[in-house]
Amino acid sequence: MNVLVIGSGGREHAIAWKLHRSPLLKKLYCAPGNGGTACLAENVPISSADIPALLEFAVSHKVELTVAGPEAPLVAGIGDYFRSRGLLLVGPNQKAAALEGSKAFAKDFMRRHGIPTAAYEVFEDPDLAEKALASGTFEFPVVLKADGLAAGKGVYICNDLKNALSALNEVMRQRRFGESGRRLVIEEYLKGEEISFMVFTDGEHAIPMVPSQDHKAIYDNDKGPNTGGMGAYSIDALVPPSLQERIMKEVIVPALQGMSLEGRTYQGILYAGLMMTAHGPRVLEFNARFGDPETQVVLTRLQSDLLPILQAMALGNIQSSTVEWKPGAGVCVVLAAEGYPGSYESGKEISGLEMAAELTDTVLFHAGTTLSDSKILTSGGRVLGVCAHSGSLEAAIMKAYDAVNRIHFEGMYYRKDIGLKGLPKERGEQRL
Ligand code: AMP
Ligand code: GLY
Repeated sequence: MNVLVIGSGGREHAIAWKLHRSPLLKKLYCAPGNGGTACLAENVPISSADIPALLEFAVSHKVELTVAGPEAPLVAGIGDYFRSRGLLLVGPNQKAAALEGSKAFAKDFMRRHGIPTAAYEVFEDPDLAEKALASGTFEFPVVLKADGLAAGKGVYICNDLKNALSALNEVMRQRRFGESGRRLVIEEYLKGEEISFMVFTDGEHAIPMVPSQDHKAIYDNDKGPNTGGMGAYSIDALVPPSLQERIMKEVIVPALQGMSLEGRTYQGILYAGLMMTAHGPRVLEFNARFGDPETQVVLTRLQSDLLPILQAMALGNIQSSTVEWKPGAGVCVVLAAEGYPGSYESGKEISGLEMAAELTDTVLFHAGTTLSDSKILTSGGRVLGVCAHSGSLEAAIMKAYDAVNRIHFEGMYYRKDIGLKGLPKERGEQRL
């Protein structure tokens, strides 16, 4: 089968890496891909935002299945364009991708269908939002969210009124995120640990993936500003079977049924970002795609062939799929450029990749890299995801950092505590 993967991050390298191992794969393309995908697929210089060019490419190269990695093309309607030409694509149509594309839609949808989430209100008028904040309608800390894609930067956790008003101004009056600032979601702050719960779905049935946990903050012990994700780990103990059943029953099934009822049947990866509160799981957000860097650890634990699973999803018969997972643990440590998530330099040569790749059960997923004159250079904030799999979390963490220690580039920064939060959970000493 000829397959096209759209995107250029670590998540897309992981998808391409897994597809590359499929005996059903004939030709693999990545648009635009990165320095890592260049080694196992043909990189095509088309941006993930250029839907007409992607469509033309898929038609002219007889692509039989397309996987949309990032959210932006899904929210822009790539699913509708491809399907209107009879092409198979993994990912929801535009109407269904609104679950990620609009926070206000997602919150109202959850309210309509009784899906547990933080209490909230949506505002279109900044003066009214300001009044509500000043009048004590919301307790502090309070969470403010721009209503649309904001590259992960549109969420503000505000400890007091001053901060909340400054966030409101940035989003609604200064339009830092453009049109996403037309509406603002103000919601209750939830306490707990976050987990990422993804399913493969054809709109009717869903098969859960192994759970994972992201590390969003830039510094160790979850300090400092949020990033796109500095690492992740996956162990089954994050979500024991009874909790998985509860999440499926309270979140995933009502979400899929609700979307179908509203004429927005949802096909693709459904990602629920959950806060495990004292009262049970609450949805922080839905994403219409694989998480990054969660996918890197989840796919290293996938035993089954990914290609027929994705194909079955796109064809509407996910139930026929075999989805088996490796026991144990997966860990991904993100290597970032100094300065990220603020400004950083690019073009630094990366050394030690071959030495790191020699280690068993270790795989390096490229994110911000390019291949130039047979050298791999940095080209983004998150540069590499160093992943390891092992029978236990402790061993997987050691393997991942062993590989990290073999890699170098000027200004390389990474967190030293990826996965540590999972150790007491794996030992059964702590439950979410
Ligand atoms: P979101 O894009 O909505 O998932 O928000 C990004 C991050 O902000 C989440 O991963 C959480 O760490 C944090 N966050 C969002 N909503 C809340 C909330 N209601 N309470 C506490 N933290 C939140
Ligand atoms: N790791 C969070 C996300 O992919 O949105």
